[in-house]
Order: sequence, then C-alpha cells, then structure tokens
Amino acid sequence: MNILILLGARKRGNTHYTSLAIIQEMQKLGQVSPEFLFLRDYDLKFCLGCRTCFDKGELACPQKDDLSLIVEKIKKADGVIFASPVYVSDVSGEMKTLIDRLAYVTHRPAFFAKCSFIVTTTYSAGNKHARDTLGAATFAWGFHHAGSLGLKIPTVKGPPDLTKDQKRIKKAATKFFTAIEKQHFRSPSLLSLAVFKVQQRANSDPLHKETLDYRYWVNNGYSNPDQSFFVDVESSWMKRILASVLGRVILKIYS
Ligand SMILES: Cc1cc2nc3c(=O)[nH]c(=O)nc-3n(C[C@H](O)[C@H](O)[C@H](O)COP(=O)(O)O)c2cc1C
Repeated sequence: MNILILLGARKRGNTHYTSLAIIQEMQKLGQVSPEFLFLRDYDLKFCLGCRTCFDKGELACPQKDDLSLIVEKIKKADGVIFASPVYVSDVSGEMKTLIDRLAYVTHRPAFFAKCSFIVTTTYSAGNKHARDTLGAATFAWGFHHAGSLGLKIPTVKGPPDLTKDQKRIKKAATKFFTAIEKQHFRSPSLLSLAVFKVQQRANSDPLHKETLDYRYWVNNGYSNPDQSFFVDVESSWMKRILASVLGRVILKIYS
C-alpha cells in the first residue's frame, strides 16, 4: 500500500520521527511504501480568499504554485498521514495553508476512497485542538478517518526517545493498516452518510444548476437519490435510512 505522509513540520524532528515510527510498525504488518513530503519544501502560497476555486474551479486559482503536485500525490496514495507539530495550540502555518487551499474539496469531496490518520506532537498541550482542526478538514474532504495519535515529547535535538509511546505507536499503526487493508471507507460512519445526504440535497437543487458544485454532483451520479455515499457501501439498510432522516434534520436546522 502507498502511504503519503504530509508533514507540516519545519524540521526533521518529533513529528517526523513519530510518523516514521508508525510507518515502521506498519511495515511489520505488510508491504508499505511511504513517501514523506515536507510541505516546507513545496511552493504553497496563501489562499487569497477570492472564492475562484469554488465558483470557477481549482484550475482557475490565481495562485500558481505546487498545490496540484501535492493533490496528485494524495490521489495516488491509499492512505495519507497528516502530521503537524502543535504551534500555539493548533497546526503549523504550512498545514493550515494546505487546509485553506483545499477548501474547494469540501464542496466537491474527492478523497472518499482513502483512509487518513492524524499525527500531532507537542511539548505539553494543544494536541486535541490541532487534531480537531485536521479532523474537520479531512472529514470534509471525504477521507475515512482511521484514527489519530497525539504525543507529548520533550524538546530534544535529533531523534526523540519514543520508548514510552511504543505501545500507542503500534496500536496506531495497526489501526491505520487495517483500515486501508480492509477498505474501511466502504463502511462510513452514520455522520458521514448523513452529511453526504445533506450535500446531495443541497447540490441537487436546480436553482443552482449553473454552479460547478451542481455539475460535479450531477455528472458524477452523486445527486441520484438512490446513492447513499460516494462509493458503494456495505452499510445496513437501517443505517442508510437513519442517515437519510438525520440528513433532513440537519438540513432543516441549518437552512
Ligand atoms: C512556534 C512554536 C509554537 C509552539 N506552541 C506550542 C504550544 O502551544 N504548546 C505546546 O505544548 N508546545 C508548543 N510548541 C512545542 C512543539 O509543539 C513541540 O516541540 C513539537 O513536538 C515540535 O515538533 P517538531 O520537532 O516536529 O517540529 C511550539 C513550538 C514552536 C516552535
């Protein structure tokens, strides 16, 4: 399996070594080909807030940089580890820039046949907040969220001593490996199914038929009311009906 590790860290430090330890454990379980990508090595400009990606498509984005290279790598991966150090209780600037630049994917989810895993490291606090930031983004992009690992690590030069965290690292690796191997994205959570239904209804309204989002949902067949999710799912009919009802309730509350 191909694993892309997207690193928001600026140096080969705690976040990199934690991700590497997960990969090494995964390699004990089967064939794993990792690619470590430091966002700092790529030309990734800030979002200008112009909404061009939403309205005219991501190819029309005025920021010409390496974003599409990163997206292509995500598309080729079976699983993606999003790894960031905690910077003032949240993800690093590089990681937040990636999140902002991929905002259009929240309208036109594209990564639903992939599993994601979140790694955060901190000196003392902020893992939960940073994890929630990444969790919300990856969920909206369509990933199947396989789990997360947040470690507290003392500041050191060079590789940190991860001995006391080895059990948690092994557990994280097994969880992520199994989710990819068993294609857990085919068993989405009730919330994922309900959110799909919300987006399906919102994007099937002929009032918006001139929009890119409408065309994306219709042309890919996602607007078909019989469609329960982006991919064929193994969920029970009961769960699918519940998701549909929940979707209606959410839409009523927020519209
Ligand atoms: C700019 C900056 C902000 C940080 N903010 C926090 C923080 O809010 N809370 C905390 O406990 N540690 C904080 N830290 C410590 C890092 O989160 C921690 O050392 C992390 O493991 C570094 O990962 P790295 O070695 O991969 O860069 C901060 C470090 C830096 C450089």
